[in-house]
Amino acid sequence: MIDALIFDSGVGGLSVSEEIRRRVPGCSLGYLCDNAALPYGTKRDDWLIARIVAVCVNACQLARPRVLVVACNTASTLALEALRARLPIPVIGTVPAIKPAAEASRSRTIGLLATGATVNRPYLDRLIAEHAPDCRVVRVAADALVTQAESHLAGRAVDARALQLAVAPLKATTDLDVVVLGCTHFPLLRGLLEPLMPDRLWIDSGAAIARRLSQVLSDIRSIPAPPGEVGGAPSWATAPRVESLAPILTRFGYSSPRALEVAPPSVGLHV
Ligand code: DGL
Repeated sequence: MIDALIFDSGVGGLSVSEEIRRRVPGCSLGYLCDNAALPYGTKRDDWLIARIVAVCVNACQLARPRVLVVACNTASTLALEALRARLPIPVIGTVPAIKPAAEASRSRTIGLLATGATVNRPYLDRLIAEHAPDCRVVRVAADALVTQAESHLAGRAVDARALQLAVAPLKATTDLDVVVLGCTHFPLLRGLLEPLMPDRLWIDSGAAIARRLSQVLSDIRSIPAPPGEVGGAPSWATAPRVESLAPILTRFGYSSPRALEVAPPSVGLHV
């Protein structure tokens, strides 16, 4: 048993894992990535819901976490309800940090970098209507940054043009003073993105998720979880070739990923 299983399509959830390790010391973690289906941001909603539920249910049977942390905006804005209906444990989601952005913005103009799926979801419309009704939110579908973040962590060169292209609509918006990183992959590129638009406030959801996990665990944790395995916290991946992930996961305190078998959803993949 572990305290929390962190789930993302790829390595993006590692940005959340870092915040959790910083802010919730002593919390035992596991990591799950559905890298066989990466990227999520360009796939059909019905396919994704079936896939996300299948992956998380299978992994939770193996990892036996107290809490599932869906460290993926694209999955959370779509499948939280379905996951909560299927799992007997608390499920914490990740949604774009529109609320803190609206609290911080003086100009009332906010930029959002997220996947194409997230920027077009009704969930996001509701989030803006509830927390930033008087703000102009410039939504940018920046799926190319997911690939760039994966490359960056793997030690490969990042394409500077892809970064420039992603921030261009935000740069062109006068008075924009806050940028929301609405995909967990993007904080991994923060050191490269921020200098492209300095003097703006860059916000992501990592710290808020860590705070939420700390609260949830303090409510349910009466017996401490056993210490993590020797060599790192456990991890699982759905891609058959898991070896390329191992060095990345090791750097973030996880052991080499084990293969997680998941039957493909019966619905079609492409829109
Ligand atoms: N990391 C995921 C998110 O927060 C998205 C990556 C993908 O498109 O698979 O939205």
